[in-house]
Amino acid sequence: MLVSAKEMLDKAKAGHYAVGQFNINNLEWTKAILLTAQEQNSPVILGVSEGAGKYMTGFKTVADMVKAMIDELNITVPVALHLDHGSYDGCMKCIEAGFSSIMFDGSHYPIDENVAKTTELVKLAHDNNMSIEAEVGSIGGEEDGVVGKGECADPQECKSIADLGIDMLAAGIGNIHGKYPANWEGLSFETLDAIQQLTGEMPLVLHGGTGIPEDMIKKAISLGVAKINVNTECQLSFADATRKYIEAGKDLEGKGFDPRKLLSPGFEAIKATVKEKMELFGSVNKA
Ligand code: 13P
Repeated sequence: MLVSAKEMLDKAKAGHYAVGQFNINNLEWTKAILLTAQEQNSPVILGVSEGAGKYMTGFKTVADMVKAMIDELNITVPVALHLDHGSYDGCMKCIEAGFSSIMFDGSHYPIDENVAKTTELVKLAHDNNMSIEAEVGSIGGEEDGVVGKGECADPQECKSIADLGIDMLAAGIGNIHGKYPANWEGLSFETLDAIQQLTGEMPLVLHGGTGIPEDMIKKAISLGVAKINVNTECQLSFADATRKYIEAGKDLEGKGFDPRKLLSPGFEAIKATVKEKMELFGSVNKA
């Protein structure tokens, strides 16, 4: 069932668990995540970056594929199709294409401009029954060529954006995309606590879910995080399983080169990663 992310995240915040956003890249990724969500009876958010959208030939292709797959696979758990780190233009395209949720990443604009653009997009999203995520304080690391330093958001700025009627707020708390460096200082729970004090019931979003230790994930959830984004970890699991298959020479045995066989270990590895995260985030049986 394709739905906006609002209800599932309000429920998660109230129930002290988090819904995973898993980024998709192609048909295998989408199928693996949808099937796992159904098997775990968990709500799920499919994240699509602008780069991945382009790779899959456009947001319309993505929206139509996801809707058809939900239908053909009889997926009954709540699924949101969400633009990840969207530009203003990207948000407009996803509204048009039939996504159920968008993220407007205005964190690189001065706060007044972020407020103005977010305000406009909140209205458009809600007029189309879509949920909307906004961001304050850029997330570190690099994703799709967008590089952020990993700063901590200003809680007062978070409050001014949260008051615009958004449905979820991404706030930098020292988290970064991709693998964490050995000298990473960890999440700033002081910042997270201050943000949650000022933003109340607003579901908070933790980007850069790959590689955050389990105890930090649990603490973040206890301080109001209700959505956790995971991208790199599925890519690493997929690559690792695929490499093992090829290194074992399995593609050279019989019809092992058939893409349905060649991609199968990677597909199963994504499923296992998604299942593990759903268990950690506490979203199993919360559909
Ligand atoms: P990772 O790639 O570090 O898991 O981050 C994903 C993310 O935050 C997508 O917005």
